[in-house]
Amino acid sequence: MKKSLLLCPPTYYDIKYEINPWMSKDNPIDKARAMEQYETLTYAYEQLGVKYDELAPDESVPDQVFTTDTGHAENKKFIRANFKYDERKKEADIAEAYFTEKGFHIHMLPSDVYFEGGDLLKFDDIYIFGHGKRSSKEAQKPIEKVLGVELIDVELPDDIFYHLDTCIAIITKNVVVANLNALTKDGVETLNHHFSTVIPTTEEDNALMVCNLMNIGGNAVLTQGISNTLKDALRPHVELISTTPMSEYIKGGGSVHCVSLEIFE
Ligand code: ARG
Repeated sequence: MKKSLLLCPPTYYDIKYEINPWMSKDNPIDKARAMEQYETLTYAYEQLGVKYDELAPDESVPDQVFTTDTGHAENKKFIRANFKYDERKKEADIAEAYFTEKGFHIHMLPSDVYFEGGDLLKFDDIYIFGHGKRSSKEAQKPIEKVLGVELIDVELPDDIFYHLDTCIAIITKNVVVANLNALTKDGVETLNHHFSTVIPTTEEDNALMVCNLMNIGGNAVLTQGISNTLKDALRPHVELISTTPMSEYIKGGGSVHCVSLEIFE
């Protein structure tokens, strides 16, 4: 089945505030390079036969490129994010308008519960939910109810790897890649319980947020600079590893997965 993604061109992408340790107003975005990297990524998606649509960029939300965080889209349902930080709240309104227009049923979580889409990973019928930094543990039950599934939950204790997709990627039903240093002891046990192979990342990979990858039908699309150690560990489980430069997005605390909201069937 072809993947369907929602992206947003980096027209207004910038570091205007600091809400995670990767962001520094002293390290602004090189707009031309961000656009070039976006075009390289979309070209890779085109080559892999991925369908994607684009949001119209809004100048008032400089983090809008990170579309994944706006919610979870599946089977004509859109669970809207409740962003933790005010600076990003409008992004959920924009995504809601987009999915409403596409005929999705919009699901809101209780207003006192945080949820950001980067904390929910899905592969086939496996769902992992990360909580503790940007999403509340209390979001789990209402999400399970909307989707009619059980979520495997993992606590996120690390400020640097604050979204689930910054430290975990599901490669197949049996294989997961993870930055184990960013998880609790229980979190590591949970992964070992549900997956027969847990591939740990190296520090070099973590500095590039390599876990923030897209798995396109067995093709791992990920940040340029991945270590040979991780490449070798991944190879038996994927058909292809495509690397793409993501330095401008890493400045904002994200990479390939955060900028690629997946619309699941
Ligand atoms: N600057 C954004 C923020 O801090 C980056 C979001 C990255 N998204 C992700 N799913 N990891 O909210």
